[in-house]
Amino acid sequence: MSQKIIIAIDGYSSCGKSTLARQLAKELNYIYIDSGAMYRAITLYFLRNHIDWTDEAQVQEALQQIVLEFHPNSNTGQSEMYLNGENVEYVIRDLVIAEKVSEVAAIKEVREFAVHQQQLMGVKKGIVMDGRDIGTTVFPQAELKIFMTADNAIRVERRFKELYAKNPNITIEEVKNNLELRDYIDSHRDVSPLRKADDAVVIDNSDLTPEEQLRLAKELAMKQAIQSY
Ligand code: CDP
Repeated sequence: MSQKIIIAIDGYSSCGKSTLARQLAKELNYIYIDSGAMYRAITLYFLRNHIDWTDEAQVQEALQQIVLEFHPNSNTGQSEMYLNGENVEYVIRDLVIAEKVSEVAAIKEVREFAVHQQQLMGVKKGIVMDGRDIGTTVFPQAELKIFMTADNAIRVERRFKELYAKNPNITIEEVKNNLELRDYIDSHRDVSPLRKADDAVVIDNSDLTPEEQLRLAKELAMKQAIQSY
């Protein structure tokens, strides 16, 4: 016998967290939440509306205008990010957003806004959430915490391929610089910086296929689900 648990997957930029989280949720019939998409959507709103995010009052006012929702795509079944009713799943993956998202995600008010919503999504458990602070701040009580890592060059190559498919003008240097910058800001910010939770299991997927990493994570999840029954 087993019961539904919370699975937190954290790690550096582009190390395959969302691929694993999405597959794991599907296998277990859990909800998948991409917490990074929420920070990306907030950044999109700030950029579009020329919000000066160094000004606390402007940030607070802007956050009151933002409604974030996840809805499944009717063709793929995959959950997609909606900002004030608009599907922004595609546009938030752009490098323009990636270049600013870590600055925005370091703001205390932004994090409180997002974390509160993320915690509500986990009330009934049966959720896999990936991000930077899921095991440390959003769900410190999560039954399973995974911290993913991968070789830097492999991460850059994977993200370059994804972005190049959408925009052939992109260079590998731009992608490399962006990942390095985000990793630095994410792990050095004052509010819930990226770090491995003490009780997280580390998975280095540099040499693992998606199938292998899924098998590994599924075994861990089944073990935890049985233990928490
Ligand atoms: O997909 P990738 O690993 O490149 O990033 P993401 O998960 O889409 O997250 C984008 C950015 O949002 C990160 O670089 C962080 O600055 C921020 N983020 C965060 O601060 N906390 C989270 N729980 C998730 C993302």
